[in-house]
Amino acid sequence: MRKIGIIGDGNVGAAVAHQLLISHDVDDLALFDINEAKVKADALDFEDAMANLPDHVNITVNDYSQLKDAQVLISTLGKISLITGPDAPKNDRFAELRYSRKAIRGVCENIKKSGFNGVIIVVSNPCDVITALYQAETGLPKQQVMGTGTLLDSARMQRIVASKLGVDPRSVSGYNLGEHGNSQFTAWSTVRVLGRPFTQIAAEKHLDLSELEDEARKGGFTVASGKHYTNYGVAAAAVRIADAVESDSHQVLPVSNWREDEGVYMSYPAVIGRAGILDGTDGVARIDLPLTDEEKSKLAQSAKFIKEKVAGSESESEA
Ligand SMILES: NC(=O)c1ccc[n+]([C@@H]2O[C@H](COP(=O)([O-])OP(=O)(O)OC[C@H]3O[C@@H](n4cnc5c(N)ncnc54)[C@H](O)[C@@H]3O)[C@@H](O)[C@H]2O)c1
Repeated sequence: MRKIGIIGDGNVGAAVAHQLLISHDVDDLALFDINEAKVKADALDFEDAMANLPDHVNITVNDYSQLKDAQVLISTLGKISLITGPDAPKNDRFAELRYSRKAIRGVCENIKKSGFNGVIIVVSNPCDVITALYQAETGLPKQQVMGTGTLLDSARMQRIVASKLGVDPRSVSGYNLGEHGNSQFTAWSTVRVLGRPFTQIAAEKHLDLSELEDEARKGGFTVASGKHYTNYGVAAAAVRIADAVESDSHQVLPVSNWREDEGVYMSYPAVIGRAGILDGTDGVARIDLPLTDEEKSKLAQSAKFIKEKVAGSESESEA
């Protein structure tokens, strides 16, 4: 029985739920939102789809006791208008921090009371900081809490590189690392396509790597400039991670995970399975990318930035 909870039924939560329903990836879906009318309406709408879908899915609404035996909980709560609304600061995911920090406090109380002991996947922004807060508030082991992080930014990079060469994004491998935010970077030393390092191809074709990197970094805001939110890209990322957990696939994905050396949640490829982040556990390799010195320094800067934001958020909440 694959049971998944989704907290927050806005643009992203509804897209995640829809993808799970049509991709045969779930048997039981527990939906939560403080906007009860909206979440009840979506649940009914999904049930109206059921007669024409290949699989049955059991749906519940705002019942935290359902989480007791759920394997995965996806956090998509937030208030996107704080980032994309007319009064929002430009391109700043931290504009949602104060709102979401308050929201998750009550949510985490309910998660704890439910006895949930699965894996939390955080989409809510600012993703790395909110992931750290979920871990702190629920007290779950660090390997059971992760964020979608730069899985989406890596997908954007794959799309951009692929479009330059006329190939499918899945034929491009490599990572954006660090914060799911402005301090992230593309680790070009990891990017390969057509069986070759992309840096070689880019040099031959006179492609400007920093322009491509900037396009990936700003990709979310480019989408949001057209519709005031983004949802399908990140929904695919969240469902892919959930599937890696449910199927215990040991897939390597760049997610926001606890980095012991840096003392922070940030994105770096990790092995994902039923227990969450598996790197270095029994029989599972630890990932150590051969980054260039420049990339190592960018990763350290991104870690420092996130760490300061987490510390700032903790001292603000104590005040
Ligand atoms: N990490 C990523 O790559 C990525 C990509 C896109 C969006 N996001 C983030 O995902 C979040 C959701 O985006 P969206 O466009 O769906 O926003 P939205 O404003 O449409 O939806 C958020 C939903 O959360 C609900 N909510 C708020 N507090 C809650 C609580 N305590 N319990 C249950 N539900 C609660 C709201 O009622 C609302 O329906 C935002 O934080 C956004 O920034 C992250």
